Amino acid sequence: MSDKATLQYNGNSYDFPVIKGTENELAIDIKKLRASTGMITIDPGYKNTGSCESGITFLDGEKGILRYRGYSIEDLAEKADFLETAYLLIFGELPTEEQLSKFDQDIKEQSHVDEDVKKILDGFPKSAHPMGVLSSLTSALIAFNPAFVNVSSEEEMYNAIVRILAKFPVLVSWALRKNKGLPLDYGDNSLGYVENIVKMMFRRPNQEYQKNQIVIDALDKLLILHADHEQNCSTSTVRIVGSSHAGLFASLSAGISALWGPLHGGANQAVLEMLEAIEADGGDTKKYMAKAKDKNDPFRLMGFGHRVYKNFDPRARIIKKAADEVLNDLGVVDPILDIAKGLEKEALEDQYFVDRKLYPNVDFYSGIIYRAMGIPTEMFTVMFALGRLPGWIAQWREMRLNNEPIGRPRQVYTGANLRPFVDLGNR
Ligand code: ACO
Repeated sequence: MSDKATLQYNGNSYDFPVIKGTENELAIDIKKLRASTGMITIDPGYKNTGSCESGITFLDGEKGILRYRGYSIEDLAEKADFLETAYLLIFGELPTEEQLSKFDQDIKEQSHVDEDVKKILDGFPKSAHPMGVLSSLTSALIAFNPAFVNVSSEEEMYNAIVRILAKFPVLVSWALRKNKGLPLDYGDNSLGYVENIVKMMFRRPNQEYQKNQIVIDALDKLLILHADHEQNCSTSTVRIVGSSHAGLFASLSAGISALWGPLHGGANQAVLEMLEAIEADGGDTKKYMAKAKDKNDPFRLMGFGHRVYKNFDPRARIIKKAADEVLNDLGVVDPILDIAKGLEKEALEDQYFVDRKLYPNVDFYSGIIYRAMGIPTEMFTVMFALGRLPGWIAQWREMRLNNEPIGRPRQVYTGANLRPFVDLGNR
C-alpha cells in the first residue's frame, strides 16, 4: 500500500503523506496543502477532517466499537468505577490501588467551593437552565483559582485537574438544588466520588439521607459511558478554546455550552420531552415516525442517529439493559419506557431509518434512567457534563502537552467583491 496520496489539479501533481493510526485508520496529511497548491479543503461539520492525532479514545462507527485507552467500554462499564475511568482517560493507564487512593484523597482535599460563588449563584433566577448556571459557575471558578496552568509543570497540571474534578460535582449539585429551592450542600468526604454526588444532589434538610446503592451504581455506569467520545462537538470546543492557551476552566466552560445543544448533549432532555409529548398526545408513535420522515417537518426523532455510529451505538446497548434493570430494581413502572421501546422497534424496521443507518444513540435511554432516579429533566444534560468532564480534561491535557497550534480554520469567501462605498444619503 502506498504511503502517499496524489492530488492532480490543472495539470500538476502533488504528493501528500498518508498516515496510519494504531487501529489502521488512514489519513491524508494535508498540512502542506495550501503552501504547495494554494488551495484549501472545505468540509462543513468536519465530517472528513481529523483535527488531531489522539491516543485517548478509539471508536469505530461501522463496527460499534468504543474503547478508552485501549479498554473496551463494555469492560469498563462492568468492571471499573468512574474515578478509575477518569484517571485512565486523563493519565493514560489504569491506576494502581495506591495511585487511586491518592487521587481520591487529593480530590477530597479540594472539594470546597468558595462561599462567594454562592453569591454568583444567588444572582440567577430559579428558572435558569442548569446548563447555563453550570457553564457560568465553571467560568466563575477561574476567579477563585489560578487562572492559567503552567503546562510544563506536571504538578500544576495535576493540581488544576484535581481541583476541577473536586469542585465540579459541587457546582452540579448546586445547580440542581437552586432549581429545586433546596439549601446548598458541600457533600461528605467520607463517601466515594459518585456516592457523594448522589448525596449532595438528593439530601433533604431535616431528613436523614437514605443511601440507595441501585441509584449510585446506575449513575456510576452512566458517567463511565459518557466519559469520553473523541472529537465530538463539545470536546473539539474544549480543545480549540484551549489551543489559544486559555485556561482549563475557561475551556471547560465553553465545552459545557457546546454540550447544551439538542443535537449534542441536550438530546437527552429533548428525548424525554419528546416521549412525554407523544404520551400526552395519546401515545401514537406512528404519527411521530411519519413526522420524523417528513422533509417538510423540522421534527427529528430525538435520540436517533449519530455522526459516527452508523451501525449501533455500543453505549446505547449497555444503557438499554441498565434502564430495564434500574426500573425493575427501583420498582418504577414508567409508560414512557413502553413508548421508547415502541418507537425503537418501529424505527429499526422502517426503511427510512434503515437506509440512513439511524440507530438509537446513548441518549435515547439515559433520560429514562435519570427520570427513574428522580433527576429533573433540565438536569439531564448536566449529568452528561459531569460524565464528560474527565474526557474534556484528558483531551485538553493531551492538546497542551502535544503543543498543538491554535485552532483556526479557513473559509471559502462567497460574499461581494470589492465595491465602492456609498454615502448614507445615496443609499
Ligand atoms: N430523525 C429523522 N431523520 C434523521 C435523524 C433523526 N433523528 N437523524 C438524521 N436524520 C436524517 C437526516 O434528515 C438526513 O436525511 P437525508 O439524507 O434524507 O437528508 C440523514 O438522516 C443524515 O442526517 P444528518 O443530519 O446529515 O447526519 P449528521 O451526522 O449530520 O447528524 C445527528 C447526526 C446530529 C446526531 C442527527 O442524527 C440528529 O439530529 N439526531 C437527533 C439528535 C440526537 O439524538 N443527538 C444526540 C447525538 S449523540 C450525542 O451527542 C451524545
